[in-house]
Order: sequence, then structure tokens, then C-alpha cells
Amino acid sequence: MQKLKLSVIPGDGIGQEVVPETLKVLDTLAEINGGVKFEYETHPWSCEYYLEHGVMMPKDGMARLHQTDAIYLGAVGNPKLVPDHVSLWGLLIKIRRECEQVINIRPAQYINGVNSPLANPNDFDFIVVRENSEGEYSEVGGRIHSGDDEIAIQNAVFTRKATERTIRYAFELAQRRSGQVTSATKSNGIVHSMPFWDQVFQEVGKDYPSIQTESNHIDALCAFFVSKPHQFDVIVASNLFGDILTDLGAAVMGSIGIAPAANININGKYPSMFEPVHGSAPDIIGRGIANPIGQLWTAKMMLDHLGLDELGSLLMKAIKETIGEGIKTRDLGGTSYTNEVIDHIITKLTAYSK
Ligand code: NAD
Ligand code: IPM
Ligand code: MN
Repeated sequence: MQKLKLSVIPGDGIGQEVVPETLKVLDTLAEINGGVKFEYETHPWSCEYYLEHGVMMPKDGMARLHQTDAIYLGAVGNPKLVPDHVSLWGLLIKIRRECEQVINIRPAQYINGVNSPLANPNDFDFIVVRENSEGEYSEVGGRIHSGDDEIAIQNAVFTRKATERTIRYAFELAQRRSGQVTSATKSNGIVHSMPFWDQVFQEVGKDYPSIQTESNHIDALCAFFVSKPHQFDVIVASNLFGDILTDLGAAVMGSIGIAPAANININGKYPSMFEPVHGSAPDIIGRGIANPIGQLWTAKMMLDHLGLDELGSLLMKAIKETIGEGIKTRDLGGTSYTNEVIDHIITKLTAYSK
């Protein structure tokens, strides 16, 4: 029996609703497989935890995460209780940085039965590779002076190391897909970072002569995501550009409630973290209507990452069929509740195994 230890952090808001529900699906998959068992170490780290303890996670928290095979997270943030910059730097970004999860991969694809807002969604299927450790999210900056003289400074930091590994990751991924990489840039502007980004993109591209490359300015790229999403395969972007593009990708799919993501540790030293693109959705907490698909598709990415691709494919099949049969939460135009979607998926998975 293969035992996999998962650190589970439901976090805040709907994270606390979708994570426990989706664990039932993971347990069903383990039963079907028969040779694997998931052991969960669940942590209550959240804004509520902060109010009680004055920290988002305990001192030994990071060491405990390091001892597990993967981290499965819901969402972090409840601005009514704790300012976002405190909760996010204290938990989400802290884990991404200290577990060296330097790449964030975020797929988006047309799913039959999800009403894309596009008139002709045309079967798109792309993945954004987002730089996940620096860029516009650097720790360099701060606020000085006060009152009318107050200044907020944020320095974007682009190191050759991080830029190159992100772009290389995108090229490697493209080699396994349709062989096309689009770089999100802004080199027509007066930002210093982007001509540098473009140069590294060109240099790395020389190692992949069979890959077709293109650079699009981020503003135009946002428009193209809407007007012709089917023309993209792998898109590589800086931290903030990638963040914005992937909410847009989620909206083009039909709802941010279904978009998955994976924060990948590429040196194998620490666990990777799997959390959906969406946040804690404070506006729908406690109503049982949160869409669990973003969290579940994220679980599929975790299964693939852990080498359980067959279970991942089975899960994706059940997700797609469930949506196709109209078992959908309200954000997708359906009437089902979170637990009803989960129950339907579990019934399907169980039926496949018979
Ligand atoms: P959000 O993604 O939480 O919500 C945006 C909109 O999408 C809301 O109307 C919400 O109801 C809806 N939505 C999101 N997920 C849904 C789901 N699964 N099913 C149905 N509807 C869903 O973004 P926000 O409102 O900008 O942020 C809320 C909080 O979450 C903030 O504290 C923010 O910092 C945090 N946040 C955390 C993460 C993360 O932990 N990875 C990501 C994004 C935002
Ligand atoms: C995301 C979120 C985070 C990010 C926030 C909450 C810091 O928006 O995971 O997309 O910007 O990375
Ligand atoms: Mn985001």
C-alpha cells in the first residue's frame, strides 16, 4: 500500500466548504485504486486562527509541511477579520516562497456544458505558466512619510535565474503539448523589466528551435484571450501578469469557480502546493453554493503530480460528465449545491469501478 501524506489547509471562507467535500472524492479514488492511501494532516491556519494566536501559522508549521508529499489548500483571506497583506504574507505567500514553489501552472479549457461568455469559444485549451517567486510581488518597497507626502514604493524584481527557469519550464511544457509558447510582455512601455524578459525569452527559445514563439503585449493579450483564446497553447507570464491573465482565463471558461492551479517546487526539496485560482469568496460564505470544481480540478493536478495520473484522468472524466449532465452550482447557471455536485461525482466514480 502506497501511503501519501497530504498537508490540508482549508483556510478561509469557502475554502472551509470545498476542501472537506473534495477530500471525500480523494478517499473514493483511493478506494477504487486499492493500492494507495491518503493520510491527511489538517491545519486550521486561517484568519480565525490569527485572531486567536496572533500568527497565521505556528512556528513549527513550515517544518510540518516539509514532511508531507503535497500541500492541498483552499483559500486564504478574510479582510473583515484580518487585513489581506497580513494573512497572505503570513500564510499563502509564505508557503509559496519558503517551499520554493517557483512556478505556478494554471490551465483553462473549454468544458462542454459550461456556458462560456464567448459567442464562439471554439474548444480552447491553454496553460498559463506564471512566475511565482518575485517580479511585481517582490518584497522590496514600502511606505514612507505620511499625510499628503506619503509615498508607496514597490520595486519589481526580475532576476535572470527566476526569469530563465520560468521561461524554460514553459518551453519544456510546450514540447509536450502543441509546441507553441506565447510570452506576455510589455516591452513597448517604459518598464525596465520587460525588455530584459524579452531578451531571456529569445535566448531560451534558441534551445528549442522546433517551438513556435510569439510575444504579445499584456494589454493586447488580455483582449486576445477574449477574442481568440483557441489560438493559445502555453503562455508564460510574470507574477502579476500571470495572476491577472488567469482570472481572465477562468472567466473565459465560464466561472472562476472552476479554475485550478498548482504551485510547483521544481527542485524536489519541498512539497508543491495545490490551490484553486479563486479566493475565499466572502460574498457567498455559508450558503452551500460554492462551486467545488476549481478545488477538485486542482486535486486532479495534485494526483497527476504525485504520479497517480490514472486517478487524475478518472476524476477529470467524472467532473466533465457531471457538468455535462447539468449538475452545476449557480455560478455555472445550475441549481445544485456544493455537496450535491460532490455526491454526483462520487456516485459516478463508484459506478466506473464496478
Ligand atoms: P474571489 O475569487 O474570492 O471571489 C471573486 C468572485 O468569484 C466572488 O463573487 C465569488 O463569490 C466568486 N467565486 C469565487 N470562487 C467561487 C466558487 N468556488 N464558486 C462560486 N463562486 C465563486 O476573489 P476576491 O473577492 O477578490 O477575494 C476574496 C478574498 O480571497 C480576499 O481576501 C483575497 O485576497 C483572497 N484570495 C485568496 C486567494 C488564494 O488563497 N489563493 C486567491 C484569490 C483571492
Ligand atoms: C492568486 C491570488 C494571490 C496572488 C493573492 C491572494 C496574493 O490572487 O493565487 O491568484 O495574487 O497570487
Ligand atoms: Mn489571483
